[in-house]
Amino acid sequence: MKIHIYILCLVFSSVYSESVFKNVTVLDITSKSEMRSYMKSISKDLGVKCSHCHDMDDKSLDTPQKDITREMIKLTRYLNDLLNSQSEDSLQSNTYVSCWTCHYGQLQPAARRPGK
Ligand code: HEC
Ligand code: HEC
Repeated sequence: MKIHIYILCLVFSSVYSESVFKNVTVLDITSKSEMRSYMKSISKDLGVKCSHCHDMDDKSLDTPQKDITREMIKLTRYLNDLLNSQSEDSLQSNTYVSCWTCHYGQLQPAARRPGK
């Protein structure tokens, strides 16, 4: 039953998002205002402007930065799913890992601690 509802949601969200956005293949966002606030949030997490990833004349066009970001969104989702599946009692929220967790306002996360 659960899986049926999940599939229905997937079908519905992909059909619906196609009518609002032209080229959204990973995010489950269906409204313009939600998209704007998500995009503002990841921009702050990485310390970049919209134009770092987008052609500002047409934001639906693909860019190499958008491709990397799609993989990063999947990575973040995977980590949260994994953490959520570990312990329902001790963990309180649904989102433990965000772009900020690793990026900390920088485009390139620090690979090792400073002073080494
Ligand atoms: C780090 C890269 C990155 C930054 C910075 C970024 N975006 Fe995006 N944006 C993406 C990716 C990736 C997608 C497509 C997501 C998908 O396919 O699920 C997207 C999709 C969009 C879309 C949907 C376009 C369409 O019709 O297909 C809009 C609108 C948008 N972004 C607006 C913005 C705005 C406004 C900003 C600045 C506040 C911004 N983005 C900053 C990566 C970025
Ligand atoms: C688990 C840690 C982690 C999380 C979470 C994470 N990233 Fe990353 N990200 C990395 C690492 C590591 C790199 C590679 C940095 C390098 O090349 O030095 C990277 C690289 C990137 C790059 C390419 C940077 C460049 O040099 O051009 C973008 C864009 C990016 N991440 C966006 C995101 C976004 C958006 C999110 C949230 C949806 C996110 N990342 C979440 C670890 C993470």
